[in-house]
Amino acid sequence: MTKVSEISCAEDHAKNVAQYYRLHAPIYDVTRWSFLFGRKTLIDQIPSLTAQPNILEVGCGTGKNLIYLKQRFPDADITGIDLSTDMIGKAQKNITTPSINLKKMRYGSGKLKEETYDLILLSYTLTMMGAEYSHIVSRIKNNLNANGYLAVVDFHTSPFSWFRKWMNVNHVDFSGDWYSLLEENFSLTHAKFENAYFGLWNYVLLISTKK
Ligand SMILES: C[S@@+](CC[C@H](N)C(=O)[O-])C[C@H]1O[C@@H](n2cnc3c(N)ncnc32)[C@H](O)[C@@H]1O
Repeated sequence: MTKVSEISCAEDHAKNVAQYYRLHAPIYDVTRWSFLFGRKTLIDQIPSLTAQPNILEVGCGTGKNLIYLKQRFPDADITGIDLSTDMIGKAQKNITTPSINLKKMRYGSGKLKEETYDLILLSYTLTMMGAEYSHIVSRIKNNLNANGYLAVVDFHTSPFSWFRKWMNVNHVDFSGDWYSLLEENFSLTHAKFENAYFGLWNYVLLISTKK
């Protein structure tokens, strides 16, 4: 059970992230290609899904992954949620397909369109969700169908403390803790570590199923 102090901590973190994206949403699409690597590659690597799958992207940002998911899985019912009004606003402008549903919400704080999904995508979102990975991981497990896939691409860590600190200032956790927790709780069918900028940081692409 989530304690009251944990909820208020998550709410405070969410407020800070939303504030951060007030400034960053307008420049997000023209800047993030230079460091959020592997997003399209991950979606290409997702195995075939059942007919008319339900797909959820947690932290969908400006909606670029949702558009690509729709191209990959044309018959899918796709939902993107994000806690930032500014990022969801951008997604609404970027997306013209009616079968992609958008909702402004902090993951875990309200009701989703479906109880469970055939695919849940988190693309550079886990490391921005604050420190409560264990709650997030159990929530994901509850929201994933028995044969569903969890696909994640995210920062792992960096050998440079100045860089880790700088990323913390930008609300990104560079401890790499999320990876071990997913490893404990899911069967990783595909996991690949990649270096960015000659090892300034590394990031992970992974696809997994429930244990
Ligand atoms: C780095 S952006 C990634 C956006 C998009 N997934 C992409 O790959 O471009 C992280 C997004 O996650 C959202 N986010 C962070 N924590 C969240 C939470 N607990 N619930 C919903 N969205 C969250 C942020 O508002 C932000 O839009």
